[in-house]
Amino acid sequence: MTRSARAEEASSAERVIGDARRVALEVLVRVDAEGAYANVALPAALARTDLDQRDRAFATELVYGVTRRRRALDWILDAFLVTAPPAPARAALRMGAYQIIELGTPAYAAVSATVSAAPRRHRALVNAVLRRVADSGVPDWPDDTTRLSYPDWIVDVLVADLGRSTALAVLESMNGPARAHQRPDGYVQDVSSQLVVDAIEVQPGDLVADLCTAPGGKATALAARGATVVACDSHRGRVGLLDANRRTLGAASVLAAVADGRCPPLRPGRFDMVLVDAPCSGLGALRRRPDARWRIEPSAVPRLAELQQAMLDAAVGLLHSGGQLVYSVCTLTAAETLAVVAHASRNGSLEPLPPPGEPWQPHGDGALLLPDADHDGMALFRWRRT
Ligand SMILES: C[S@@+](CC[C@H](N)C(=O)[O-])C[C@H]1O[C@@H](n2cnc3c(N)ncnc32)[C@H](O)[C@@H]1O
Repeated sequence: MTRSARAEEASSAERVIGDARRVALEVLVRVDAEGAYANVALPAALARTDLDQRDRAFATELVYGVTRRRRALDWILDAFLVTAPPAPARAALRMGAYQIIELGTPAYAAVSATVSAAPRRHRALVNAVLRRVADSGVPDWPDDTTRLSYPDWIVDVLVADLGRSTALAVLESMNGPARAHQRPDGYVQDVSSQLVVDAIEVQPGDLVADLCTAPGGKATALAARGATVVACDSHRGRVGLLDANRRTLGAASVLAAVADGRCPPLRPGRFDMVLVDAPCSGLGALRRRPDARWRIEPSAVPRLAELQQAMLDAAVGLLHSGGQLVYSVCTLTAAETLAVVAHASRNGSLEPLPPPGEPWQPHGDGALLLPDADHDGMALFRWRRT
């Protein structure tokens, strides 16, 4: 290939990648300055482009990676900034630093491509600061919280509840990309949710109440195993999602209803199984929603624990004697696991069932799945009504 052909090829590849950076930058500004959700704003922005698969993946890596690593990147950048830059400049700086420090992109390529994706009026600043970032090399982090890029309170809660070394390993693993798996029926569900379903001892013909059902991943899996599932969720729009999934999968034995799981309009003492897959702080599944760590407030944990307790109280009443209760959450806090189930266990009519085996590990009377490369974090508790 001639030199001019090579140059043309490089420049055309750069044009496409440059577009991916521009899309990423637009989304990052919306997420940071306007409070948009990354997993909503990114697909919407990508839908307006004709980027190919590779460039979509690159834009996704930039948006999700920069969003997760926001605190760590800001710590690197702030050493070279005298005043706080406006949001578009800050987003471009984070995106450039992410490529240099985290992706190992050669500095000249990361700097020049990021500068050309940045708004014209901020290019000089972005260029000057990114050159200094590139020269400064791998950072000497001031502490684990900055290195791992989480708010203080999340690190503090998980260190207090899991111990320091487990918490740090868990937090590190949630900085990686999320994986999704397709079930044989085509529904895309994370592996950990599938492990929760596997741990539910449902029999063909069982009548199941699923009190927090949307979007219906577990309800449709239980129906596929022969159960009839009365599927409730308090969020009308999300029940619509469940309904769409139910139709796509042909899950005729899932009966959907909009209802509050704290007072479900269902006949007491009638069900073989009740599933409370409760709303939670989601601290075990942070890799799935990159901006979640910056949104969740510490006050969400006690508020959700109260809601979870009320749902478990309601769930017990729906079971006939011998029926099973399953409680699951995608979080790891003691407040939403051990404390909530201690409250449920005080109801004298519940007998804990043995926890499932590996990869679950014992957690009180239940089990915990710690986040790793393949799994989200989950907690699971099962009882039989006496
Ligand atoms: C973890 S998600 C459930 C996921 C679902 N089980 C699945 O496998 O696809 C928790 C659900 O609880 C619902 N929810 C929140 N508060 C509720 C309440 N008071 N009553 C019933 N559902 C509620 C949310 O709308 C959300 O859809």
